[in-house]
Parts: sequence; C-alpha cells; structure tokens
Amino acid sequence: MPPPPSPLRTLLDLSQALAGTRTLHASLVHALEVLEEDLRAEAAFVALADPATGELRIEAAVGGAANAARRTHFHPGEGITGRVAKTGRAVVIPQLTKEPLFLDRTGVLAEARRRKRELSFVCVPIRAEQGRTGALAVTLPFDPGRDYPQLQATLEIGAAMLAQALRVHVRLEDERKKLQAENRQLREELRERYDLRNVVGTSHAIRQVAELVSQAAPSSATVLVRGESGTGKELIAHAIHYGSPRAERPFVKVSAAALPESLVESELFGHEAGAFTGAHGRKPGRFELAHGGTLFLDEVGDLPATIQVKLLRVLQEREFERVGGTQPVRVDVRLIAATNRDLEAAVREGVFREDLYYRLNVFEIFVPPLRDRRPDIPLLADHFVTRFATEHGKDVRRLATTAIDMLMSYHWPGNVRELANCIERAVLVCSGGVIHAHDLPPTLQTAEVTGTLPQRSLGEAVGVYERDLLLDAVKIARGNKARAARLLQTTERILSYKLAHHGIDARRFRA
Ligand SMILES: Nc1ncnc2c1ncn2[C@@H]1O[C@H](COP(=O)(O)OP(=O)(O)O)[C@@H](O)[C@H]1O
Ligand SMILES: [Mg+2]
Repeated sequence: MPPPPSPLRTLLDLSQALAGTRTLHASLVHALEVLEEDLRAEAAFVALADPATGELRIEAAVGGAANAARRTHFHPGEGITGRVAKTGRAVVIPQLTKEPLFLDRTGVLAEARRRKRELSFVCVPIRAEQGRTGALAVTLPFDPGRDYPQLQATLEIGAAMLAQALRVHVRLEDERKKLQAENRQLREELRERYDLRNVVGTSHAIRQVAELVSQAAPSSATVLVRGESGTGKELIAHAIHYGSPRAERPFVKVSAAALPESLVESELFGHEAGAFTGAHGRKPGRFELAHGGTLFLDEVGDLPATIQVKLLRVLQEREFERVGGTQPVRVDVRLIAATNRDLEAAVREGVFREDLYYRLNVFEIFVPPLRDRRPDIPLLADHFVTRFATEHGKDVRRLATTAIDMLMSYHWPGNVRELANCIERAVLVCSGGVIHAHDLPPTLQTAEVTGTLPQRSLGEAVGVYERDLLLDAVKIARGNKARAARLLQTTERILSYKLAHHGIDARRFRA
C-alpha cells in the first residue's frame, strides 16, 4: 500500500469532493469517502444537530458500521460526539479501548475488539449556521508513530470546509423551498385565472364551446382550436389544460408565426451541442419542457413543411430527435393546436400536409367571431372594465348605456382582443367612474354606428355627450326626474326639456 497522502493533498481532495452540485447527503458521503481513503480510516461520520431539538443525528457515514450509523442519535452533550458538538472543542483519543466515555454507537469498537485491534478516534466540531452545530468523527487504526495533533488540525480545516458547504446547501435548500412554494402558488393562480369559469359569455355559441372544452379536457386527445384572431383560442386552450388531469404539469406555448423558420425546429425539438453555429450546449425543446403536460402550438397553419413532417412523427410515435441528435427522445405531451387559417384550403393548395391535418383534427373546437355572439358583448365589456380598473388602480364602475349601444353595433373585426383593448383605453381616458361613448376609440365612432359622418361636428359630439349624461342620471335616479336634475345640478324643467329633446322617456327607468 502506498503511503497516505499529505494533509494538504487530503484537504485538496476534500474541497473537490464538496465542489460538485450534489445533494447535501451525497456531498457529505463523498467527502467522508475521501477521508476514509486518504487517512486509511475504518469509519467516518458527520453528525449534525437538529436546530429544533438540539439532538445530534448522523447525516452521513462511511466504512465499518455505516448502516448502523444511519439510525444513530445522540442527545445534546451525550458521548464524545455530543460533547464535541456542544463545547466546540475537538477530542482526540489515540487508544479507544482505554476511553470509558466512548459510546460505540456504531459498533466500530466492538468490531475492533473482536479483531484484537486498537483504534484511534478523532472528533472535531462543525459550526455551520447559528445554532446549527455538529461534529466530524474519524475512527482509524492506532499507530504510536502517528502525528495526532497534525491529524486533528487537518480534520479541523476539513470541518470548516464542510461547514461552508453546509451553509451553501442550507441556503440553496431554503431558496428551493421558497421557489417551490411560489411555483405552487403561481400554478394555483394560473388555474384560477384560466379555468372555464373565466371564459365569459352566456350566448348559445360560447356555451357550446364550453361544453366541448368540458368534453375534451379529461382525455389526452389532440385538440384543434379554430377561429378568427382574438376570439379566445388561447384562452380555450388554457381552459382545456387547467381542466385536465395534466393541470399540475406545465402548459407550454409555441407560436409558429412568431418564430423565424430557421428557429422553429430547434425551439420545438431542442438541439444538441454544436448542432449549428451558435448552438452552445444542449438545449431542450418545448416538447421536452411540456413533458407530462400540454403543448399549445399556436398558428399551426403557419408551420413550415419540414416541421410538419417532424410534428406528424411526434403525433404518431410520441418521439423525435433533437436537432443534430441521433437518439430518439420520447415524450408524453398533449397537443392543442390553434389556427385562424383555412386549413382545408391549405391542404388543397398543398402547403399543409393532409396526413398532419387528419392527425390534428381529432377534436375540433370552433370559437365563433364576436359579431356572431353579440349577447356576450356587454358581459365581456363589464368583465374588462372590472379587470382593467383594478389593474390600473382606477375607480371605474360601469359603462354608460350609449357606450354599450356603441359596443353592440360595432362589427369587431379584432374580436374579443379588440374589445379588451378598447375597454382598457376607455378605462384610462374616462373620468368620473363611468365610461361614456366619447371615451371609446374613434374607430367605433363610425358613420355606420352613429348615423353621422365619421368626423362629427362639435354640436353633434356635445349632443352625444349630453345624451350620455342624461341617460346615466335618470338611470341612477331610477326615473325620478327631480333627483336626476339634482345629480346634474340643473332644474327639473331644463331636465324635462332635454329628455324630450333626446327622446328619452324617464318612466322607462323606474325601478
Ligand atoms: N370568452 C372570453 N372571456 C374572457 N376573456 C376572453 C374571452 N375570449 C377572449 N378573451 C380575452 O381576449 C384576449 C384575446 O384572446 P386569445 O385567447 O389570445 O385569442 P386568440 O388566441 O384567438 O387570438 C385575451 O386577453 C383573452 O383573455
Ligand atoms: Mg392567439
């Protein structure tokens, strides 16, 4: 056997053992193995005090009786190990058989006695965090020629290194726990935000969509969501995911239209190191990231032909290769695709693969344009008023009747997204807690809507505003003209005259 390495060598080995990114237990075991080997030790262990009870527990052990060590506890101050941890002073016992205090919890001494060998025991304190103490102990063959003070010094430095590693691990562990809790909470929030209850609308059309979502959610079937831009396809995809057994797993979105063609493939499937210029290191694709969960492939109609082939294979075989890779990667992913394209036409024109079309079109959900579900407009508008008022910290309560009329008669080419944007803007510009017609963007104030030219005259604009104010006042006053007049700080006579002028019948607003 070669001579044992120098203390410096041992410390260097120890620092390397602690440098990796293992779990705390694995790091400690690794460090103890270094000591066992370099010091030719019989056994070694690290005991740490439980911050709550002060009880010492063996965190890691190697060598003789390592198994027994795992179940070992020391009460505070108990035995030599307990005393070292408590007092913070090292103990060196060259000849264990002569030490009555030695508890031999791990049975290493009993074993030595059987083999008629004398053992030495060196135990040094570990001081990790405030209150977090422990001990590092090594049992090795007694050798009268051994430099025990030097051994103690080596182990004391080793223990300081262990303490440092421990501090880092404790911090990482705290951080990890915090992130985990945060993650759980975010998922919870997402779920609340995206489940079916958040799909606003009572129209027949939207109820049908909700029914289909409920049918699709429990399975892992591929779903194709169709509809114009801004109709709520992504919202529907979310509702399916968060209503499915995969809700706790990731929901990953990729938009084929948002990525340059050269990047789509590696985004979806990942790449191996050096697969192409600039591909530093292996990168997992969105399919891998979505493992166990759902991949939402937006604008699927825009996928380049090469990717269509690869996607087809994932749908058929649930596997693919990373860009530059040869090993197939298997994934368990539910696919929800969305498009506003006429896929059938794309198939006829030969730009979209027919086989892929059939694979995607297993369960189709069509989200109708907003103009085909007008009864939902006031509900959605109210929903967005509440949402944006909260978001922007503005006290906006409702929409004036004239504003609602205007929203109802507009054709909404940008669908719900356009409505949301329009309400957000109105919330920002309006004053007095109510959104009036004139707070809505000019696009809505078209000839078609108001029956006037798009460029209104001052008189007309004032008229629209006046009508708004009158309607609001009689509504709040529940048709009581005297009260409505007071609200507008005018006389009942003037109010009656104005109401007649605008053809408003106050009686209609009586409760
Ligand atoms: N029925 C609905 N209830 C509530 N919000 C909706 C509804 N439909 C769409 N939205 C909202 O409108 C916006 C656009 O919807 P999105 O799902 O992105 O549309 P698409 O993916 O079809 O373009 C989003 O902010 C979404 O939350
Ligand atoms: Mg979208």
